[in-house]
Amino acid sequence: YKEVIRVHDITNFQSRSEEFFPLHWFRKMLSEKPVYYHEGTDTWNVFRYDDVKQVLSNHEYFSSEGSRTTISVGAKNKEGTPPDKMNISSIDPPRHQKSRSLLSAAFTPRSLKNWEPRIRNIAKQLVEDIELNTTVDIVQALAAPLPSMVMADLLGIPLKDSHRFKSWVDILFQPANRENAEEMELKKQVAAQEYYQFLYPIVVQKRSQPGDDIITDLLKVDVDGEKFSDDEVVRTTMLLLGAGIETTSHMVSSTFYSFLYDDPNLYVQLRENPELIPLAVEEMLRYRFHNAKRHRTVKKDNNLLGVELKKGDVVISWMSAANMDETIFENPFDLNIHRPNNKKHLTFGNGPHFCLGAPLARMELSVALTAFVEKVPFIESVESFELENNLTVSAPGQSLTYLPVKIVH
Ligand code: HEM
Repeated sequence: YKEVIRVHDITNFQSRSEEFFPLHWFRKMLSEKPVYYHEGTDTWNVFRYDDVKQVLSNHEYFSSEGSRTTISVGAKNKEGTPPDKMNISSIDPPRHQKSRSLLSAAFTPRSLKNWEPRIRNIAKQLVEDIELNTTVDIVQALAAPLPSMVMADLLGIPLKDSHRFKSWVDILFQPANRENAEEMELKKQVAAQEYYQFLYPIVVQKRSQPGDDIITDLLKVDVDGEKFSDDEVVRTTMLLLGAGIETTSHMVSSTFYSFLYDDPNLYVQLRENPELIPLAVEEMLRYRFHNAKRHRTVKKDNNLLGVELKKGDVVISWMSAANMDETIFENPFDLNIHRPNNKKHLTFGNGPHFCLGAPLARMELSVALTAFVEKVPFIESVESFELENNLTVSAPGQSLTYLPVKIVH
């Protein structure tokens, strides 16, 4: 297993809120230390747009392989890890191409189009349950359940079992801290085993009775004779959950935070002009997805970042900082949904590993906001809300655990 780099040693943030929205740190690093060696973690860190993009995409020099990582999800037993051929995030081209093709079969534009009504139904159902003239916790009501319900539905898991599915997912991606790491790992391994035992018979059944879902798509995949076994399909779904649940929840809850605290007029604007929602989605991904970062390991000595890099050095690309680079985005520290190039953000990465689920994530937020503005005329923040006490560390960084929203009729 790979060594997980303790990224918070690099930032040294003093509070959760600071980590939740580290704009001043990004500003400082972009202008003063755009290529920064951090001794404690023995890592190089890059912040500027062109450097971040280069490190993410130039796989001849910056490898996704290597023994150190910035991400850890799932559990460490067999049931909790993807199969070898699906080590998609940690292999380079040309080997990477094969894994990518195998998985892409389940993420074609055609499938996305077919999925839209299903995603809309789930979002509508969640929004329907929100009562007018009350205060609702938007994390509980929408941001947390939406991605796992969508994934359960797209995988073809019966609706009646979706609450079991959700409870395993909650355990598998619950963040651990230094004190409870071992205990959490054991819990995760148990959840991974239970999930495996639950899903395996469903996969077997879908072999003989195909459905319109991701599991069936994976079972049908054939790339130059390479196929998935039932075991591999089960464990590949684990990879998708790891990649697509917490990230998407974080995106949804941060968006509502932004409506309440960055620009209260934005919500009204979107309600009156829902056709602006896709623009808002991109700007939220640029401006309010604060902690996107990825590691690479130097493959060949080079000077591409203006410093001497040696084979084996680890470089961390800070995508969220690159999204604030003023050479690319005008007035980057302003939230502006009309920004002409907001789609250039690097939140989904760049190059061969560009997020496979990006169209799905975008669709989830866009469809959820559309359902929400159709129903809710106006939203307001709750004065007593304290950000610091309602954050917790998760795979995408500090995420909201609770966000009260007054639903005004
Ligand atoms: C890869 C971000 C949602 C599946 C990535 C990468 C990033 C990313 C930055 C590139 C990693 C690298 O270069 O090493 C996000 C964000 C999301 C999101 C910010 C939500 C807001 C999803 C969803 C799915 C998904 C919903 C699918 C269910 C994947 C997969 C990869 C990936 C399979 C690996 C691709 C490869 O290595 O070729 N994601 N992701 N992601 N993402 Fe996402």
